[in-house]
Amino acid sequence: MQRVFSGVQPSGALHVGNYLGAIRQWAIDQHRADSFYCVVDLHGLTAEHDPADLRQRTLETAIGLLAAGLDPDVCTLFVQSHVHEHAELTWLLECTATVGELSRMIQFKEKGDGRESVRAGLFTYPVLMAADILLYDADRVPVGDDQRQHVELTRDVARRFNSRYGETFVIPEAAVPKVAARVMDLQHPERKMSKSVDSPLGTVSILDPPDVVARKVAKAVTDTDGEMRYDPEAKPGLSNLIELLASATGRSIDDIVGSYDRYGPLKADASEALVSVLAPVRARYEEIASEREHVVSALEKGADKARSVASLTLRKAQEKIGLLVPGTF
Ligand code: TYM
Repeated sequence: MQRVFSGVQPSGALHVGNYLGAIRQWAIDQHRADSFYCVVDLHGLTAEHDPADLRQRTLETAIGLLAAGLDPDVCTLFVQSHVHEHAELTWLLECTATVGELSRMIQFKEKGDGRESVRAGLFTYPVLMAADILLYDADRVPVGDDQRQHVELTRDVARRFNSRYGETFVIPEAAVPKVAARVMDLQHPERKMSKSVDSPLGTVSILDPPDVVARKVAKAVTDTDGEMRYDPEAKPGLSNLIELLASATGRSIDDIVGSYDRYGPLKADASEALVSVLAPVRARYEEIASEREHVVSALEKGADKARSVASLTLRKAQEKIGLLVPGTF
């Protein structure tokens, strides 16, 4: 059976980019593969954060994932810091990755913006992500387009480790959806929709009520030439709405482009489609949030299962790299 791993940062409310770009696929994959999904709270320490907020958002993110359809009896859902192996394997991989390759990471360049004051963890962040994936021998990593380069780095580091120290890690592959792999901010369609950027009108949360979704989509920035065409470079706002509609309904981009000649009706259908995709998620969220003890016990069970897999991989890696592992000498 294939192994799947993916993760999400608890850096803010989950939005339709997270859902359509990644999490919806996780809910499907859990029935087809041995799936591990993780709320990556250690990654949440790489940018400025408030400790109490981080704790709260970690729990809310887990509730969001359950509401989005992850079933803790089917997949393994856990919080990254509950499995100490993630931080430990990171060190071995930091001594495998190079400063050169980490310096080429687009997300570091964008978020770091050349500032000396950014946390060192922001720089080494992709190595922690590599450890997440490699601990579980994952074959496939369902992610949005922005994580593609990090999965590539994971592959490079795993291959290097294997060739230096002997076969240890499975080489994973990124699985990126054909549409909605990069959902853009509705107000600033030249940048991606993001949990950590404050753009109240540009970001659609998975918990937004229908009237709020409708208002945000109606106000989405498009262009003034009025020409119905899918062209993410020249017409990013319109193309984003076309992709959202395609992703939410399963219709093809060509079909959508061929069936509208004005932006208004396209916006109306896009907002209706988003509302109906999000309706069951919203309905489940409140219910799950009211059963806090179930969430906590699901996460405990998930961490136990994750630890049982991660501890074996970590031990193997420690032995291969030359540590004096207790019980093996
Ligand atoms: P994060 O928390 O930013 O996003 C979670 C998932 O949502 C996808 N995503 C998007 N997809 C489409 N359009 C968007 N605007 C959009 N924004 C986010 C992301 O690609 C991601 O799949 N580093 C990761 C978390 C992580 C991880 C891992 C992922 C840590 N360890 C191991 C996979 C495997 C991140 O910050 O995702």
